[in-house]
Amino acid sequence: MSSVLDLDAEVLRSYLDEVTAWIAQQAGDRPVRHILDLGTGTGAGAFALLRRFPAATVTAVDADPAMLHRLAGRARELGLHDRVRPVAADLDDAWPDVEQADLVWASASLHHLAEPVRVLESVRATLAPGGVLAVMELSGMPWFLPESADPAERALEARTQELQAQARAEHLPHMGANWRHLLEKAGFTVTERVLDIAVDAPLPPAGVEYAAAVFGRVGEQLGDRLTSDERQALERLLAGLRQRDDLVIRTTRTALIGSQPAS
Ligand SMILES: C[S@@+](CC[C@H](N)C(=O)[O-])C[C@H]1O[C@@H](n2cnc3c(N)ncnc32)[C@H](O)[C@@H]1O
Repeated sequence: MSSVLDLDAEVLRSYLDEVTAWIAQQAGDRPVRHILDLGTGTGAGAFALLRRFPAATVTAVDADPAMLHRLAGRARELGLHDRVRPVAADLDDAWPDVEQADLVWASASLHHLAEPVRVLESVRATLAPGGVLAVMELSGMPWFLPESADPAERALEARTQELQAQARAEHLPHMGANWRHLLEKAGFTVTERVLDIAVDAPLPPAGVEYAAAVFGRVGEQLGDRLTSDERQALERLLAGLRQRDDLVIRTTRTALIGSQPAS
Protein backbone atom coordinates (compact mmCIF):
# COMPACT_ATOMS: atom_id res chain seq x y z
CA MET A 1 0.00 0.00 0.00
CA SER A 2 2.72 2.50 0.98
CA SER A 3 4.56 2.11 -2.35
CA VAL A 4 1.29 2.63 -4.26
CA LEU A 5 0.77 5.88 -2.31
CA ASP A 6 4.31 7.11 -3.02
CA LEU A 7 4.04 6.26 -6.73
CA ASP A 8 0.61 7.90 -6.94
CA ALA A 9 2.06 11.08 -5.43
CA GLU A 10 5.08 11.04 -7.76
CA VAL A 11 3.15 10.37 -10.96
CA LEU A 12 0.23 12.68 -10.16
CA ARG A 13 2.32 15.42 -8.54
CA SER A 14 1.12 18.13 -10.94
CA TYR A 15 -2.51 17.44 -9.94
CA LEU A 16 -1.61 17.58 -6.26
CA ASP A 17 0.18 20.89 -6.81
CA GLU A 18 -2.91 22.17 -8.67
CA VAL A 19 -5.05 21.31 -5.62
CA THR A 20 -2.66 22.93 -3.12
CA ALA A 21 -2.63 26.09 -5.31
CA TRP A 22 -6.44 26.09 -5.18
CA ILE A 23 -6.34 25.70 -1.38
CA ALA A 24 -3.92 28.65 -1.11
CA GLN A 25 -6.28 30.73 -3.24
CA GLN A 26 -9.25 29.77 -1.04
CA ALA A 27 -7.29 30.52 2.15
CA GLY A 28 -6.70 34.02 0.75
CA ASP A 29 -4.59 36.34 2.92
CA ARG A 30 -5.13 34.22 5.99
CA PRO A 31 -1.75 32.83 7.14
CA VAL A 32 -1.48 29.03 7.19
CA ARG A 33 0.84 28.16 10.06
CA HIS A 34 -0.46 24.86 11.35
CA ILE A 35 -1.78 22.07 9.11
CA LEU A 36 -3.43 18.90 10.36
CA ASP A 37 -3.23 15.95 7.95
CA LEU A 38 -5.76 13.20 8.76
CA GLY A 39 -4.84 9.73 7.53
CA THR A 40 -1.54 11.05 6.24
CA GLY A 41 -0.24 7.70 4.90
CA THR A 42 3.31 8.25 3.65
CA GLY A 43 2.78 12.02 3.74
CA ALA A 44 2.32 12.85 0.04
CA GLY A 45 -0.20 15.57 0.85
CA ALA A 46 1.72 16.81 3.89
CA PHE A 47 4.89 17.37 1.84
CA ALA A 48 2.97 19.04 -1.01
CA LEU A 49 1.36 21.41 1.51
CA LEU A 50 4.72 22.21 3.13
CA ARG A 51 5.99 23.15 -0.35
CA ARG A 52 2.96 25.40 -0.84
CA PHE A 53 3.00 26.99 2.64
CA PRO A 54 6.67 27.56 3.55
CA ALA A 55 5.88 28.97 7.03
CA ALA A 56 3.72 26.01 8.06
CA THR A 57 4.22 22.92 10.18
CA VAL A 58 2.18 19.72 9.82
CA THR A 59 0.73 17.38 12.41
CA ALA A 60 0.47 14.11 10.50
CA VAL A 61 -2.05 11.67 11.97
CA ASP A 62 -2.39 8.02 11.01
CA ALA A 63 -3.50 4.81 12.69
CA ASP A 64 -0.76 2.78 11.01
CA PRO A 65 2.70 3.13 12.66
CA ALA A 66 4.41 1.69 9.55
CA MET A 67 3.03 4.59 7.46
CA LEU A 68 4.25 7.11 10.05
CA HIS A 69 7.69 5.47 10.13
CA ARG A 70 7.96 5.83 6.35
CA LEU A 71 6.74 9.44 6.53
CA ALA A 72 9.32 10.30 9.21
CA GLY A 73 12.13 8.82 7.07
CA ARG A 74 11.01 10.77 4.02
CA ALA A 75 10.76 13.98 6.10
CA ARG A 76 14.40 13.50 7.16
CA GLU A 77 15.47 12.90 3.52
CA LEU A 78 13.71 16.10 2.47
CA GLY A 79 15.15 18.10 5.39
CA LEU A 80 11.60 18.73 6.64
CA HIS A 81 11.71 16.71 9.89
CA ASP A 82 11.49 19.85 12.04
CA ARG A 83 8.24 20.82 10.28
CA VAL A 84 6.46 17.46 10.59
CA ARG A 85 5.04 15.94 13.77
CA PRO A 86 3.83 12.35 13.28
CA VAL A 87 0.98 11.35 15.61
CA ALA A 88 -0.25 7.76 15.89
CA ALA A 89 -4.01 7.78 16.48
CA ASP A 90 -7.06 5.87 15.36
CA LEU A 91 -9.65 8.48 14.40
CA ASP A 92 -12.41 5.92 14.89
CA ASP A 93 -11.46 5.67 18.58
CA ALA A 94 -11.06 9.25 19.74
CA TRP A 95 -10.03 12.66 18.46
CA PRO A 96 -6.25 13.05 19.02
CA ASP A 97 -4.72 15.70 21.23
CA VAL A 98 -3.77 18.24 18.54
CA GLU A 99 -3.53 22.01 18.54
CA GLN A 100 -5.82 24.35 16.61
CA ALA A 101 -5.24 24.19 12.84
CA ASP A 102 -5.47 26.78 10.07
CA LEU A 103 -5.88 24.02 7.49
CA VAL A 104 -7.05 20.44 7.84
CA TRP A 105 -6.22 18.08 4.96
CA ALA A 106 -7.75 14.65 4.46
CA SER A 107 -6.82 12.85 1.26
CA ALA A 108 -8.30 9.43 0.46
CA SER A 109 -8.71 8.84 4.18
CA LEU A 110 -12.26 9.87 5.14
CA HIS A 111 -13.74 6.90 3.29
CA HIS A 112 -11.83 4.59 5.69
CA LEU A 113 -13.60 5.96 8.74
CA ALA A 114 -16.54 4.31 10.44
CA GLU A 115 -18.32 7.64 11.09
CA PRO A 116 -16.87 10.36 8.85
CA VAL A 117 -19.43 13.00 9.91
CA ARG A 118 -18.46 12.61 13.59
CA VAL A 119 -14.80 13.16 12.67
CA LEU A 120 -15.75 16.12 10.46
CA GLU A 121 -17.51 17.71 13.43
CA SER A 122 -14.27 17.36 15.45
CA VAL A 123 -12.44 18.94 12.51
CA ARG A 124 -14.75 21.96 12.72
CA ALA A 125 -14.02 22.31 16.42
CA THR A 126 -10.26 22.09 15.78
CA LEU A 127 -10.12 24.63 12.96
CA ALA A 128 -9.14 28.18 13.85
CA PRO A 129 -11.86 30.75 13.00
CA GLY A 130 -11.79 31.20 9.21
CA GLY A 131 -9.68 28.06 8.76
CA VAL A 132 -10.37 25.63 5.94
CA LEU A 133 -10.83 21.91 5.49
CA ALA A 134 -9.52 20.41 2.24
CA VAL A 135 -10.65 16.93 1.23
CA MET A 136 -9.52 14.78 -1.71
CA GLU A 137 -11.61 11.74 -2.41
CA LEU A 138 -11.83 9.10 -5.11
CA SER A 139 -14.32 6.48 -6.17
CA GLY A 140 -11.91 3.85 -7.46
CA MET A 141 -8.43 2.99 -8.69
CA PRO A 142 -7.07 4.36 -12.00
CA TRP A 143 -7.45 2.66 -15.38
CA PHE A 144 -4.21 1.95 -17.27
CA LEU A 145 -5.03 0.16 -20.53
CA PRO A 146 -5.53 2.33 -23.63
CA GLU A 147 -8.49 2.01 -26.01
CA SER A 148 -6.09 0.42 -28.52
CA ALA A 149 -5.22 -2.48 -26.15
CA ASP A 150 -6.33 -6.06 -26.82
CA PRO A 151 -10.11 -6.23 -26.13
CA ALA A 152 -9.60 -9.28 -23.86
CA GLU A 153 -7.16 -7.28 -21.70
CA ARG A 154 -9.55 -4.34 -21.58
CA ALA A 155 -12.35 -6.69 -20.55
CA LEU A 156 -10.11 -8.09 -17.78
CA GLU A 157 -9.36 -4.59 -16.49
CA ALA A 158 -13.10 -3.77 -16.52
CA ARG A 159 -13.81 -7.01 -14.65
CA THR A 160 -11.19 -6.23 -11.96
CA GLN A 161 -12.66 -2.74 -11.56
CA GLU A 162 -16.13 -4.23 -11.15
CA LEU A 163 -14.93 -6.78 -8.56
CA GLN A 164 -13.02 -4.10 -6.65
CA ALA A 165 -16.18 -1.99 -6.53
CA GLN A 166 -18.04 -4.98 -5.06
CA ALA A 167 -15.29 -5.55 -2.46
CA ARG A 168 -15.31 -1.86 -1.53
CA ALA A 169 -19.08 -1.86 -1.10
CA GLU A 170 -18.56 -4.58 1.56
CA HIS A 171 -15.49 -3.16 3.33
CA LEU A 172 -15.40 0.58 2.61
CA PRO A 173 -19.03 1.66 2.39
CA HIS A 174 -18.16 5.38 2.41
CA MET A 175 -15.96 5.23 -0.69
CA GLY A 176 -17.63 7.24 -3.46
CA ALA A 177 -20.00 8.86 -0.92
CA ASN A 178 -21.56 12.24 -1.57
CA TRP A 179 -18.80 14.17 0.26
CA ARG A 180 -20.31 17.57 -0.38
CA HIS A 181 -23.43 16.42 1.46
CA LEU A 182 -21.42 14.92 4.36
CA LEU A 183 -19.30 18.07 4.78
CA GLU A 184 -22.45 20.20 4.74
CA LYS A 185 -24.02 17.91 7.33
CA ALA A 186 -21.01 18.59 9.57
CA GLY A 187 -21.61 22.34 9.20
CA PHE A 188 -19.21 23.37 6.41
CA THR A 189 -19.91 25.58 3.41
CA VAL A 190 -18.51 23.63 0.47
CA THR A 191 -16.76 24.39 -2.82
CA GLU A 192 -16.00 21.40 -5.04
CA ARG A 193 -13.79 20.62 -8.05
CA VAL A 194 -13.67 17.42 -10.04
CA LEU A 195 -10.24 16.63 -11.47
CA ASP A 196 -10.29 14.41 -14.56
CA ILE A 197 -6.76 13.06 -14.52
CA ALA A 198 -5.26 11.90 -17.80
CA VAL A 199 -1.62 10.96 -18.32
CA ASP A 200 -0.95 9.76 -21.87
CA ALA A 201 1.47 7.16 -23.18
CA PRO A 202 4.33 6.65 -22.91
CA LEU A 203 4.19 6.84 -19.12
CA PRO A 204 7.35 7.81 -17.24
CA PRO A 205 9.05 4.84 -15.48
CA ALA A 206 7.29 5.71 -12.19
CA GLY A 207 3.96 5.59 -14.05
CA VAL A 208 4.67 2.08 -15.32
CA GLU A 209 5.70 1.04 -11.78
CA TYR A 210 2.47 2.56 -10.49
CA ALA A 211 0.45 0.44 -12.97
CA ALA A 212 2.42 -2.68 -11.92
CA ALA A 213 1.89 -1.92 -8.21
CA VAL A 214 -1.86 -1.37 -8.70
CA PHE A 215 -2.42 -4.50 -10.83
CA GLY A 216 -0.24 -6.51 -8.38
CA ARG A 217 -2.34 -5.34 -5.46
CA VAL A 218 -5.56 -6.03 -7.37
CA GLY A 219 -4.44 -9.66 -7.83
CA GLU A 220 -3.70 -9.99 -4.09
CA GLN A 221 -6.90 -8.27 -2.97
CA LEU A 222 -9.32 -10.01 -5.30
CA GLY A 223 -7.88 -13.47 -4.60
CA ASP A 224 -10.62 -16.02 -5.09
CA ARG A 225 -13.12 -13.48 -6.45
CA LEU A 226 -11.26 -14.07 -9.75
CA THR A 227 -11.72 -17.30 -11.70
CA SER A 228 -8.53 -19.28 -12.35
CA ASP A 229 -8.62 -18.16 -16.02
CA GLU A 230 -8.89 -14.53 -14.92
CA ARG A 231 -6.02 -14.98 -12.42
CA GLN A 232 -3.81 -16.44 -15.14
CA ALA A 233 -4.71 -13.64 -17.56
CA LEU A 234 -3.89 -11.06 -14.85
CA GLU A 235 -0.52 -12.75 -14.22
CA ARG A 236 0.26 -12.62 -17.97
CA LEU A 237 -0.74 -8.95 -18.09
CA LEU A 238 1.47 -8.20 -15.09
CA ALA A 239 4.42 -10.16 -16.52
CA GLY A 240 4.43 -8.03 -19.69
CA LEU A 241 3.51 -4.69 -18.12
CA ARG A 242 7.01 -3.23 -17.71
CA GLN A 243 7.80 -3.82 -21.40
CA ARG A 244 4.81 -1.79 -22.59
CA ASP A 245 4.87 1.76 -23.91
CA ASP A 246 1.13 2.12 -24.50
CA LEU A 247 -0.08 2.40 -20.87
CA VAL A 248 -2.04 5.49 -19.83
CA ILE A 249 -3.54 6.74 -16.57
CA ARG A 250 -7.19 7.72 -16.39
CA THR A 251 -8.84 8.53 -13.09
CA THR A 252 -11.03 11.07 -11.35
CA ARG A 253 -10.48 12.75 -8.00
CA THR A 254 -12.83 15.12 -6.24
CA ALA A 255 -11.37 18.01 -4.25
CA LEU A 256 -13.59 19.84 -1.78
CA ILE A 257 -12.95 22.84 0.39
CA GLY A 258 -15.05 23.27 3.49
CA SER A 259 -15.10 26.67 5.09
CA GLN A 260 -16.83 28.15 8.09
CA PRO A 261 -17.45 31.71 9.21
CA ALA A 262 -14.38 33.65 10.38
CA SER A 263 -15.93 34.46 13.76
C1 LIG B 1 -5.54 5.53 1.05
S1 LIG B 1 -4.49 6.02 2.33
C2 LIG B 1 -4.27 7.75 1.95
C3 LIG B 1 -2.98 8.29 2.47
C4 LIG B 1 -2.65 9.73 2.12
N1 LIG B 1 -3.57 10.66 2.72
C5 LIG B 1 -2.58 9.93 0.62
O1 LIG B 1 -3.47 10.58 0.05
O2 LIG B 1 -1.59 9.45 0.01
C6 LIG B 1 -5.52 6.07 3.76
C7 LIG B 1 -4.77 6.30 5.05
O3 LIG B 1 -5.71 6.49 6.11
C8 LIG B 1 -5.26 5.80 7.27
N2 LIG B 1 -6.40 5.45 8.11
C9 LIG B 1 -7.40 4.60 7.81
N3 LIG B 1 -8.27 4.53 8.85
C10 LIG B 1 -7.80 5.35 9.80
C11 LIG B 1 -8.26 5.70 11.10
N4 LIG B 1 -9.36 5.15 11.62
N5 LIG B 1 -7.54 6.59 11.84
C12 LIG B 1 -6.40 7.13 11.32
N6 LIG B 1 -5.93 6.83 10.10
C13 LIG B 1 -6.61 5.96 9.34
C14 LIG B 1 -4.58 4.55 6.69
O4 LIG B 1 -3.67 3.97 7.63
C15 LIG B 1 -3.89 5.12 5.45
O5 LIG B 1 -2.60 5.55 5.73
